[in-house]
This record gives sequence, structure tokens and C-alpha cells, in this order.
Amino acid sequence: KKILFVTSEAHPLIKTGGLADVSGSLPKALAELAQDVRIIMPNYQALKLTGDVHNIFSLRVDNRQINILATQLPDSTIPVWLVDCPEFYNYPGNPYTDENGNPWPNNAERFALFCRIAVICALDKIGQNWWPDIVHCNDWQSGLVPALLSLEKHRPATVFTIHNLAYQGLFSASRMVTLNIPGQLWNPEGLEFHNMLSFIKGGLAFADCITTVSPTYAQEIQTAAFGYGLEGLLRYRKEALVGIINGIDTQQWNAETDGYIPQRYNADTLQDKVHNKTALQQRVGLPINGQVPLFGLISRLVEQKGIDMVLDCLPEMLTMPMQFVLLGSGDKTFEQRLQALAAANPDKIAVTLGYDEGLAHLIEAGADIFLMPSRFEPCGLNQMYSQRYGTIPLVRKTGGLADTVIDTSAASLADGTASGLVFNEANAGALLEAIKRSLLLYHLPEQWRQMQVNAMGKDFTWRHSAEEYLQVYAKLQP
Ligand code: ADP
Ligand code: GLC
Repeated sequence: KKILFVTSEAHPLIKTGGLADVSGSLPKALAELAQDVRIIMPNYQALKLTGDVHNIFSLRVDNRQINILATQLPDSTIPVWLVDCPEFYNYPGNPYTDENGNPWPNNAERFALFCRIAVICALDKIGQNWWPDIVHCNDWQSGLVPALLSLEKHRPATVFTIHNLAYQGLFSASRMVTLNIPGQLWNPEGLEFHNMLSFIKGGLAFADCITTVSPTYAQEIQTAAFGYGLEGLLRYRKEALVGIINGIDTQQWNAETDGYIPQRYNADTLQDKVHNKTALQQRVGLPINGQVPLFGLISRLVEQKGIDMVLDCLPEMLTMPMQFVLLGSGDKTFEQRLQALAAANPDKIAVTLGYDEGLAHLIEAGADIFLMPSRFEPCGLNQMYSQRYGTIPLVRKTGGLADTVIDTSAASLADGTASGLVFNEANAGALLEAIKRSLLLYHLPEQWRQMQVNAMGKDFTWRHSAEEYLQVYAKLQP
């Protein structure tokens, strides 16, 4: 099948979060299953392009010159089409925000144009003689694509994947006119959401099939607690909604081959893992100590990730023998509170603000316990990376975390499935209890090792999930 994969970020070209990991690895997994996949994304200034880039088509839209550039996803044969419009995409840094974290003021225009060009490409109006069977869209930035395609008589089938329902692309209703969106899409069953223009509704209301990134999240978003007012629409469309858990790129996240870590290891050489712990302690300036339990956390610092709960637990954690390493960026208040705690406790807490691929790998390899107390988590990737690295994830029972981590109990130790620690309530008390439980287990070396071996043996490759996407695509065939 021919699949046009529409996304606003793809690793290693550009990444702000898990969407990039998925966009950089699912197309490869689909190609391995003999699918003909092409990615389309904006030509941001910050793209880390490696191979050849050449212009394949130029057109004018709204009196702007647009070029379609062709390149490849690095280290793969996946073609990538870049929508080039310097006025909209040639900004430094983050695809969505300025350096202070404020959304670019013209995001509606930027992503509306991206959607319109993706539609033009999907209808093969760019002379490539390549008509996709499926247009696979991701998150609000591509939400207008299914809506616009729904107006076409002869069109490819559309799939819309929800990576995070919290980000919806809501803009003032007046944008309908300034963005030149056909008026028949404006109604409560369409792009209208409480008198706002909703990009994500273009996907939820018009795509032939909706997917999200874990079975549990697919259920959760049909409830008021997780649905942000869209739960009714999602319940209405539940026959067309499936949860497919993300896989991980096991070429990039593999403790046996990882080029970012000083000591490679596997389940048979787990005793070597401590060298990465030493390197991590050295790198972030913590006392070197192989015995002390080391907690790690890598995240966007936003409310979703339960950072406030971690902040509430840290004072009590500081009374215990432990160390804590955090890498992240986001909310300035969280950043300041974390930095202050680290400054006051330099022998226990190390905080690195910013984005650092290499340090992320070193934390996965060097930490003993990985914290992920998310309030909600559509899928989550770090809990899977952690398990592959024998670093025990401590997670809240929600979304993809609930689907990928098995809590440690007498029963799960006995049947060889225990692979982490799972807690239920979204509050600091419940998190602290799980942290204490993890410390008890950490001091039982035999059990701990068993948990690590169980975790490292789990299959998080894309293969199975890519096959589930194929089943979704197959149902959409005319
Ligand atoms: P989300 O997409 O909600 O941010 P995921 O768990 O799906 O959460 O994916 C986050 C991805 O971004 C992971 O690959 C994680 O390692 C990476 N990441 C997040 N923050 C940073 C950071 N500060 N430096 C390096 N990598 C980061
Ligand atoms: C989103 C979610 C995260 C998920 C990622 C990739 O950013 O917050 O849970 O893993 O998308 O699907």
C-alpha cells in the first residue's frame, strides 16, 4: 500500500517529544512490512538534514511561493517531502514555540497551510505519479487534512492518530475566513468547538479511522476526565477508534549497541550497568557511589507529567539515601523550583535544563529507577526504553504506562512478569509510597535482578504494532 504520513516532527530531523520518535520509526516499520511510505512535514530551519535535498515541485498558494523539497529520513530509505515556505517555517528552534515557550503567533496560518499542501500532495497534484491509498495524519497540526479531503469526491482513505488530546489547535472562529477554510466545514459536527475553530476536530470528526497510541488511552478519552469535552464525539465514533500501542526504535534504544553510553551491556552482563551509573554521576556532578539508589527522570516539564508530585515528594526523599537526576525543559516555575532544590542539595539532586539526546541515553542506562508519575500518558516511550535498559520504571497506572509496565508483587515475581512499580492515585502520597516500595525492592538484589531481567526481555519492537496499523489500513480499502 501507498501511505502518506503527515506529521509536524520526525526524529532525527526534528524532535520535541514522542511524536517525533513515532514519526521517525513507524514509517520504517511499515516499510519493513513492504509498504510504500512517504513522510510529509514542514521545512523548518532547525531540521537536521543529512542527505540530498532537491526541489520537486513549486506552486503558488495565497500568493505565496511554496516549494516541495524531497529528501530522505536519515539512515533509511524513507522519502520525506518538505513543505517549504520560508515565511512560515524558516524560524529557529522549536516548531511550535519561540524560545520563551510562547506559541508562534501565526501557528494557525502555518499549520493550515501545511495541511492544504499535504492535501494537494495526497491528491497527486504535484506531478509525482504517486497516489496514496492512505493518508495517515498525526495530532492537531495535521487535523485539517481529513476535513479538507472529506470534500473531495475521489480521495484516499484517511487515518488520524491522537498522540495527545490535550493539544487541540484551538483558534478564534474568525480564523475560518482568514485561513480560507471552506464554510461547509464550520458546524458543531465539524470544525466548530464551542465557537472556536478546532484543528483536532478535523481529524476526529472527518477521518475514516481514528487511532490513539494505547488501548487504555483509547478508553480513557471517551470519559470526561480525559476527553476535554471531546469525549462525546469520541464515544460517538468508538467503532472507528482503536488504540495501538507504540513500539520503540530498538536500533537507537539498545543497551547492547548504544553509542551514547560508555559501557554497553545486556541481561547477561547486568553487572556492567554500574559503569554507566558512575559515568552519569560524574557527568552531572553527583558523588560517585555504585550502591546508592539513583532515580532518573527525563521529560517535558509540564503538568501532564506529574512534575509537581515529584517536587512534593523530594523533601521526604532527601531524608533517605538516594540520588535523583532530572533532564527536562518546559514550565518556568517547575524549572525554577527544581533548580532551587538541586542548588540546596548538590550531593543528592542534579537538574539539567534543556534538551540533550546523549544525556537522555546515559540516564536510561545509568539510573536504577525511572520516574514517570504522569497524570495522563497517551503512550509514553521512556518507560519502554527504561525496561529495555534494565532500569526499573515507576509509573502511574494510566494510558500506555498501564499497558506496558507490570507491577511487582509476589504473584508477578513468581510468574516472571514483574517489570516495574505501578501506583494508582494521582497524588504525592501515592507516589511516595511507590518510591518507598521501590527502595525496599532495590535492597533485595535477587528480586531486583529478576525484575530487570523480566523488563529487558520484553518485546517493545514495532513489528506487532505496525501489523495492527496494516489491519486498520486494510479495513479502509474501497
Ligand atoms: P511526550 O511525547 O509526551 O513528551 P514521550 O514519553 O512519548 O512523551 O516521549 C518523550 C520523548 O522525548 C522521549 O524520547 C524522551 O527521551 C524525549 N525527551 C523529553 N525531554 C527530553 C530532554 N529534555 N532531552 C532529551 N530528550 C528528551
Ligand atoms: C504524545 C504523548 C505520549 C506519546 C507520544 C507518542 O506526545 O504525550 O504519551 O508517547 O505522543 O505517541
